Amino acid sequence: MSGRMSGRVQGLPCRMGKRKFSKLEITLIVLFCLVVVALCVLIGLLATRDSASSEDAAVATAQRVDCIPDQIATKSLCSRRGCCWSPLSDPNAPWCYFSSDHGYTVDGDLVTTQQGLQAALARLPSPSLFGQDIDNLLLTTQHQTPNRLRFKITDPNNQRYEVPHEHVGSFTDPAASNLNYKVEVQHNPFGIKVIRASTGKVVFDTTIGPLVYANQFLQLSIRLPSGNIYGVGEQIHKRYQHDLNWRVWPIFTRGTNPSANVENLYGAQTFFLCLEDESGASLGVFLMNSNAMDVTMQPAPAVTYRVTGGVLDFYVFLGDTPEQVVQEYVQFIGLPTLPSYWTLGFQLSRYNYTSLDEVKAVVEQNRALDLPYDVQYIDIDYMENWKDFTYDKERFRDLPNFRAFLNEQGQKYVLMLDAAVGMSPMADGSPYLAYQRGQSRGVWLNESDGHTPLIGKVWPGLTVYPDFTNPECSDWWLEECRLFYDQVPFDGIWIDMNEPTNLLEGSTKGCEDNEYNYPPFTPHVVNRLLYSMTTCMDARQYLGIHYDVHSLYGYSMAISTRRAIEVLFPGKRSFLLSRSTFAGSGKFTGHWLGDNTASWDDLKWAIPGMLEFGLFGIPYIGADICGFFVDTTEELCRRWMQVGAFYPFSRNHNSEECAPQDPAVFGANSLLVNSSKHYLNIRYTLLPYLYTLFYRAHTRGDTVLRPLLHEFYAENTTWSVDRQFLWGPGLLISPVLDPGVEVIQAYIPDAVWYDYDSGASLGQRKQWVALHLPADKMGVHLRGGYILPTQQPATTTVASRKNPMGLIVALDDKKEAVGELFWDDGESTGTIESKSYISYNFTVANNVLEMQVLHSGYVDPNQLRFTQVKVLGVASAAQTVTVTQNGQQIPSSHSVTYNSQTQFGNWN
Ligand code: NOJ
Repeated sequence: MSGRMSGRVQGLPCRMGKRKFSKLEITLIVLFCLVVVALCVLIGLLATRDSASSEDAAVATAQRVDCIPDQIATKSLCSRRGCCWSPLSDPNAPWCYFSSDHGYTVDGDLVTTQQGLQAALARLPSPSLFGQDIDNLLLTTQHQTPNRLRFKITDPNNQRYEVPHEHVGSFTDPAASNLNYKVEVQHNPFGIKVIRASTGKVVFDTTIGPLVYANQFLQLSIRLPSGNIYGVGEQIHKRYQHDLNWRVWPIFTRGTNPSANVENLYGAQTFFLCLEDESGASLGVFLMNSNAMDVTMQPAPAVTYRVTGGVLDFYVFLGDTPEQVVQEYVQFIGLPTLPSYWTLGFQLSRYNYTSLDEVKAVVEQNRALDLPYDVQYIDIDYMENWKDFTYDKERFRDLPNFRAFLNEQGQKYVLMLDAAVGMSPMADGSPYLAYQRGQSRGVWLNESDGHTPLIGKVWPGLTVYPDFTNPECSDWWLEECRLFYDQVPFDGIWIDMNEPTNLLEGSTKGCEDNEYNYPPFTPHVVNRLLYSMTTCMDARQYLGIHYDVHSLYGYSMAISTRRAIEVLFPGKRSFLLSRSTFAGSGKFTGHWLGDNTASWDDLKWAIPGMLEFGLFGIPYIGADICGFFVDTTEELCRRWMQVGAFYPFSRNHNSEECAPQDPAVFGANSLLVNSSKHYLNIRYTLLPYLYTLFYRAHTRGDTVLRPLLHEFYAENTTWSVDRQFLWGPGLLISPVLDPGVEVIQAYIPDAVWYDYDSGASLGQRKQWVALHLPADKMGVHLRGGYILPTQQPATTTVASRKNPMGLIVALDDKKEAVGELFWDDGESTGTIESKSYISYNFTVANNVLEMQVLHSGYVDPNQLRFTQVKVLGVASAAQTVTVTQNGQQIPSSHSVTYNSQTQFGNWN
């Protein structure tokens, strides 16, 4: 925030009148109110003119921008805010809404600059909503790329807080040429429109509502070309496509249990995507701002951002397809990390393993199933009294050897670290050294005085909070990680409670009554209190006031932990998983959807959640398989294990005191185990394809888990499909998500599809299809036109990476297909930069499969060969197969099998 906050505004918003108005201002406001009343009467008259105009009235209602977003609307408050009052039968629609007399006007000329446009804005005389309005603003636009527009509204007279994001910096390039958009500025009231150059369509239009710009309340509304809106987070969205019925989504990182209520969760993600129409044309909108905010969706269709600080720094991305818009956005905020190959394996975890012996027993029991299983976690249970960088020398005595115990069988060990650091000495009275060293280096988040560490409470009792925005803190953290790693080696790190979570409200001292802890406008966050379950907002961090940087806590912790990983594992990618995220977190970490419940609803809601994190550039995403809270059931867990085998991050994790739910507890030959093995074996078979999708995410910003609408936007049914998903373009997953169900209605888009298990063509397309999916089965379909690289599965990726490779060729209507493979050692950093990888392009046309080596900079130690090619959709068995290399026939031996019923050919 700026330093202008001394005159704080207390109490109800309309007690803004602490400031005395001049006579001229009073006259202007009276005049303004008269004009507003006249306008409101006129709008009311128009809206109720006659019954034929009811549709117009509905349109007018849909366009209303709420003038009382903070409390229950009353007529008197509405008139004090100078807004229009018109009650409706719909309780969700605003009864009090802005007239066009609010906002700003362009003051003087619109200036063309080297990068775009610039204009001074002057506030129109109107009552204030929350006080401390800023009268003069500066608009700057930067036409950064042909598809990316930035426009920023700042206070030219005061430096306000801006997100210190490494990918924003100062942009100095001149305006791009060949813009795919035009920018239009409406002068009075001020508004900005973005027009798609190719169609002339206005795709982004802020003239629907006023710009409001006060010290602690900034608002901008955007009318959109369609209601197909996806994204913003982190919250539970029951459906992927947004409900536009005046839904309010608060954004502010918070460690609360996910629920269907409108509440803010772990991450702060301000990006959304809008699909315009069947042409695929789409746009993305991103607000670079880390302050607490509400985002409201309304039927206009429109989206309103109401933000408690910082500046308005918007980016608009245009694309010909939704996938292209995601690529544009992700390339801008930071391309996601390329995961280590082993992290694509199946993973097991639980909270409340009582001893290392218990963990080892679980590992042994699940190994005995011959289940693909790569990673074992240990939650905070290993720590001594839940203190980071310590371990319980009795119950987890042998922890230093645990990594070796796992690695011997090709498995990996991931260790948890919490954000908050305990303060008490160790159980034997000796000093808690990690805390002491941090204390002497002064690396904690401080109270408002800037030097007294703020004390909260988490699992270890009283705690301090490392301030990861402080380079000294980052160094301390790295050093602690290193010291602990020397005692207890591990393979990857899981960071938790980093919103940051506090079991107290604010601190042991509570929080002072000031403008940070009680801002004039509080978004619809948990308990309607910014410091609820976290630290006080007036705490001081290296990069600013916690009020501004709160939602960057997990992001900064991930950056520091990634630094530590680089030192601990030189030249290796290792692994990082974080609960709290911000725009750009995907460059450093993956994410899981947090503490879900073992319920059929949560099973369903995981799909929109994961699809959203694909939009946010964090494709390494999953939900706790079988559910975290509450005892699971065999049926729920079985269905969850089936679909979870296709989560990019595939981990079964469970809460303390809940019945164990690792596959082994259901019995070695149980339906659950057999079905889990079947689908995990498919996952492992397709890991080369999944890894190649992650390579595309890492290099281009593609989604991995992909919504159907990204591939089939021309079919409007796909726009709301979120009970199914794709892996890249080529694999469709249609899970069972309801109890007692064996037949699901799946939408089958317009392509040829083959059942993964039988290879048979589905024969139906561009329609809802009833899929019979008995207890052990889920819908997995290969899309005609795609070639998927495969490898024979094994119980770990260390073993599977040694197995022969293959291709599944799914032919389309024209009997053609394409595909690709990226392959490297699966764990080194910088393999792309150093060109230590292999890449192939595959094509099939005219009965010829071409495997073109694009790059061959890596020699795999396992002498991998493609030993099997399965072709789906061949009309007759090939009698001869000729193998050529660079146009020359080479000797080869092979066997051919062909199933005329399924048209499934197999060349070995
Ligand atoms: C909260 C995390 O979300 C959960 O996954 C973990 O098990 C508990 N903290 C205990 O560490």
